[in-house]
Amino acid sequence: MELTVRTSDNYNIIIERGCIKQIGTFAENLLNKGSKAFIISDSNVLPIYGKTTADSLKAAGFKVYEYAFPAGEESKRLNTIEEMYFKLSENGFTRSDFIVALGGGVTGDMAGFAAATYLRGIKFIQIPTSLLAQIDSSVGGKTAVDLPQGKNLVGSFHQPCLVLIDPNTLSTLPPHYFSDGMGEAIKYGCIKSRKLFDMILNTDIKENIEELIYSCIDIKRGVVERDEFDNGERMLLNFGHTFGHALEKNYNFKKLSHGEAVGVGMAMMAKCGEKADITKEGTSAEIQKALKKYNLPIWDDMDTEKILEAAALDKKSRGGNINLIMLKEIGDSFIKKVDRGGLRKLIEVLK
Ligand SMILES: NC(=O)c1ccc[n+]([C@@H]2O[C@H](COP(=O)([O-])OP(=O)(O)OC[C@H]3O[C@@H](n4cnc5c(N)ncnc54)[C@H](O)[C@@H]3O)[C@@H](O)[C@H]2O)c1
Ligand SMILES: [Zn+2]
Repeated sequence: MELTVRTSDNYNIIIERGCIKQIGTFAENLLNKGSKAFIISDSNVLPIYGKTTADSLKAAGFKVYEYAFPAGEESKRLNTIEEMYFKLSENGFTRSDFIVALGGGVTGDMAGFAAATYLRGIKFIQIPTSLLAQIDSSVGGKTAVDLPQGKNLVGSFHQPCLVLIDPNTLSTLPPHYFSDGMGEAIKYGCIKSRKLFDMILNTDIKENIEELIYSCIDIKRGVVERDEFDNGERMLLNFGHTFGHALEKNYNFKKLSHGEAVGVGMAMMAKCGEKADITKEGTSAEIQKALKKYNLPIWDDMDTEKILEAAALDKKSRGGNINLIMLKEIGDSFIKKVDRGGLRKLIEVLK
């Protein structure tokens, strides 16, 4: 399966079992003959998929260099990027050379940021290996690192020149991360596609994994094409994230993983919408049913005052207003601008 994203730079997304083995062939058509490839990965993924990737690139005539950082969000900071810059310059990388991001969303965000900034920007290929990266973070060109003050506070928009999605890599992904990615998959169904939501709810998703990835990416592609720099429709992708981020933050990123927090955030937001006669009755329960199927938590009893406080500080809030993403029903979402008072009114029903 193949998709083309038409943003400031057009690029293709290939979804195909085993396509990692062919990265060399794909890269040949896009990049300079004999140029250097810098594979950036993490300490879990490089030992599993590094050799296949490197061998294919070498067979196509590229010179290959590898770099792995310790796996985990804790590595997603400027120190790690600086190390990448050092390796790139020590090995004489120029603007004719390129980076390959091989791993989950942490790898993709950081390799993308290094590619966006080294020599003011070099090309990069995404090979996402976690479900979250395959359905979400590898497409759209957002790159970032965290600061001690918050997640993803430093970054840029830099589109990859190719995204290679090999669903076979999910066979080695720990189950917890698979569920985590399903939280975001459910989100895509909620905001844009009843059909996708039903597939997630009613079929064995591992049997339909290519279709799942394709549907999610196709939704993200459309949204990103219409709003590359996140000033409008792209905000719909934040459904579940306002409350989700608040929960993650209040629990110091320990109790709930991102996908779990987003799942709970979606169920809560749908509930708020139902009570305010904005969202169709029963929507929250449907979301919870889907969450349950993928072993994701369905609710959290955190004090609404704490959620309000954290939501007001969210980086997604603009000039005192908060852009909430709400559903009319599954598959139909919209942006609702509220001030703090408006948010309070909506969320108080959860008390
Ligand atoms: N750029 C965007 O648009 C965007 C969107 C959503 C999330 N993100 C970012 O993505 C990150 C989360 O991504 P993630 O959940 O993929 O985290 P991650 O990259 O840390 O991967 C999760 C874990 O799975 C391991 N792993 C990945 N693929 C594997 C495989 N095939 N086999 C075995 N182990 C594997 C990793 O080593 C890691 O331990 C966050 O930093 C978030 O901010 C970015
Ligand atoms: Zn998310």
